[in-house]
Amino acid sequence: MNDKADIIRWFRASSAYINAHRNKIFVVLLTGEALSDKNLPNIVFDLSLLHSLGVKLVLVHGARPQISAALREKGHESQYHRNLRITTPDVIELVKERVGALSVTLKSLFSMGMYNSPMHGADLRLCRGNFITAKPVGVHDGIDFHYTGEIRKIQVEAIRQQLENGNVVMLSNLGYSLSGEVFNLSAERVATETAIALAADKLILMIPDEGVRDGSGELLLSLSHEDAATYAEEFAARSDSDSQSIAQALQAALLAYRSKVHRCHLISYREDGALLRELFTRRGNGSLLSNDNFDRLRVAQIEDVAGILALIKPLETDGTLVQRSRELLENEIGNFLVIELEDTIVACAALYPISDSSGELACIAIDPQHQGAGFGDRLLLELEARAREKGLSSLFVLTTVTAHWFLERGFETVAMEQLPERRQRLYNMQRKSKVLRKRLG
Ligand SMILES: CC(C)(COP(=O)(O)OP(=O)(O)OC[C@H]1O[C@@H](n2cnc3c(N)ncnc32)[C@H](O)[C@@H]1OP(=O)(O)O)[C@@H](O)C(=O)NCCC(=O)NCCS
Repeated sequence: MNDKADIIRWFRASSAYINAHRNKIFVVLLTGEALSDKNLPNIVFDLSLLHSLGVKLVLVHGARPQISAALREKGHESQYHRNLRITTPDVIELVKERVGALSVTLKSLFSMGMYNSPMHGADLRLCRGNFITAKPVGVHDGIDFHYTGEIRKIQVEAIRQQLENGNVVMLSNLGYSLSGEVFNLSAERVATETAIALAADKLILMIPDEGVRDGSGELLLSLSHEDAATYAEEFAARSDSDSQSIAQALQAALLAYRSKVHRCHLISYREDGALLRELFTRRGNGSLLSNDNFDRLRVAQIEDVAGILALIKPLETDGTLVQRSRELLENEIGNFLVIELEDTIVACAALYPISDSSGELACIAIDPQHQGAGFGDRLLLELEARAREKGLSSLFVLTTVTAHWFLERGFETVAMEQLPERRQRLYNMQRKSKVLRKRLG
């Protein structure tokens, strides 16, 4: 962002989100993996910023890799049954030690982050307490899980009270029984059940990747319930630890979603600023499982050709768009993005590379019944982001009737000669389209 206007536009655009998030409850899971990532200080800073913007934060941290490492140091292997760690009396002592140390480190990072950063002077109090009552998992298949526990009760009112007092609540994978014993819980479970019990506005799960990716590596910005269930299974079947973490996050998100936590975000803990981009920009920067994403922005597939044709036909007939045959559309389908609403294509747009450094945005069309709902803006933002990812520095559009819509979105009118030569040769003199360009910066 190098231009004053961009800064102002960005700041104004984010203010809508600042207002929307104020006083909302967000439960954030920081897994043990996230705690050992070098990006942790930035995450802590961004969480402090969220707190200062009035978000009520409950942080839940895990310690799985740290516990496994501690066991290895002592020459023991971690023992699991049914995907659950068996926490013998020796192991629980190690667990308490490691979780305690991590809690202290996290707490100190919050204090240091404030002191050493522009957040210096902001008032942030972290509150830890025995908010989670636990009970033993017990004996299954003849195997005693000892101090592996499950959640019995969450002290919802006590947590709410802390949040009302302006404190950030910090929980971990430890729970306490009424008889004073300490149990080792799943941090995912603590985060999920706390979000459900508090009827939190968001459950945020920090994962190793930018979000969930489909088979072709495409980031899925929004996930339906069905998608999440399918990907949870797919990732669980892979053996690498990143896929396992994503599978666990998806399972946690699904559980929360089914229990009416309506927005569950999967956001990278490795990428600096991912949390802020997901929460304060329209495009987001992660995968969102929510019940209000019944509209879905995605890359078009061959099955969408009929839907796109139905959408653009009237605009071709009245001359707003140039004619495209079915064959051409089939060949170029990979350039298209669509928005699908209840199984119907309601919006589309395409990006064509026209030189090494520039692209052309074409065929943007929104179903008349859905115009004015921001779909045009969403497609434009997504195409701009994709153009940047491809290393393009400017985006052209040729239009006969929609110039103002683009001008209001940072495009400028340029002479036809500014188009790359290859594209100039295809310019249709009879249509007299205006040529607009946006520098992508
Ligand atoms: C132009 C178009 C893509 C905008 O999409 P959209 O989803 O309706 O737009 P958004 O909801 O993001 O933005 C709506 C705003 O754009 C304005 N707008 C819509 N069409 C416009 C136009 N032709 N010129 C200027 N502004 C326009 C609306 O008045 C509204 O402004 P407001 O918020 O101040 O009331 C859509 O109206 C469309 O499909 N038009 C027909 C096809 C077309 O012209 N395609 C362009 C070919 S190059």
